[in-house]
Amino acid sequence: MRLVKTIKEVREIVNGWKKEGLSVGLVPTMGYLHEGHESLIVKSVSQNDKTVVSVFVNPIQFGPNEDLASYPRDIEHDKELVKNAGADLIFNPEPEEMYGKHFTTLVNTTEVSENLCGAKRPVHFGGVCTVLTKLFNIVNPERAYFGQKDAQQLAVVKRFVKDLNFDIEIVGCPIIREADGLAKSSRNTYLNKEERKAALILSKSLKLGKEAILKGERNSSKVIEIITNNLNTEKLAKVDYVSIVDNENIQYVDKIEGEILCAIAVYIGKTRLIDNFIYKCED
Ligand code: PAF
Repeated sequence: MRLVKTIKEVREIVNGWKKEGLSVGLVPTMGYLHEGHESLIVKSVSQNDKTVVSVFVNPIQFGPNEDLASYPRDIEHDKELVKNAGADLIFNPEPEEMYGKHFTTLVNTTEVSENLCGAKRPVHFGGVCTVLTKLFNIVNPERAYFGQKDAQQLAVVKRFVKDLNFDIEIVGCPIIREADGLAKSSRNTYLNKEERKAALILSKSLKLGKEAILKGERNSSKVIEIITNNLNTEKLAKVDYVSIVDNENIQYVDKIEGEILCAIAVYIGKTRLIDNFIYKCED
């Protein structure tokens, strides 16, 4: 397993693989890898001859008051995890390598990125689509892997890849949770002991919402109310949003039908956590 810092090196290595007729999977990450990322890498290794993991804290997807400076980083730990998961290459560029001095291009979507996190973090998805466009052009993978925890990101990526005719299969992978239900996230590291306990309110509240749907509730606002009321029982939790949208276009729906995404964002202390579930109505 090699780690390279430049676009030129990645291209040379991948071109060599392609000449041998080998397929390439890409797992884009911002590092500080955990079992969620590991599951994406393992999936890519099982579906491709070679797997590239990018580790890059992408500055342009953070808003001015967000956690770019404090975002956790540990490349030695990441190298170990990537190696053990069976990947072949880490691409770990510096921001100057990716954006240079006069970078002025932005790739963005409309509609699919306008609600949920897109409404709360206005520059976020433009930054994500732009860095992924660059990574797709640099690595030239057959497949790229994304976690379902960032469900809107997955929908946005599927859309821009389709709209811009990238010949890349986007593979979504299930949320990986701690034993007690908390969705794995690099940002969980910000939580102190008391907050870590309080953070369980996210998965517990979503469970109540899902149970209501399973019992036949089809009114989105009723389900949203059940989830919000339960989140509000936790004194360290501050709800950012609780929403139900269709899982393709990420537009709000009044009625639960077809495939819906129930997504929440909640501050636990200063840490903003997200979680969700998808439900496919058969009726
Ligand atoms: O999900 C992430 O970690 C990031 O948004 C991504 C896809 C690596 C782009 O920077």
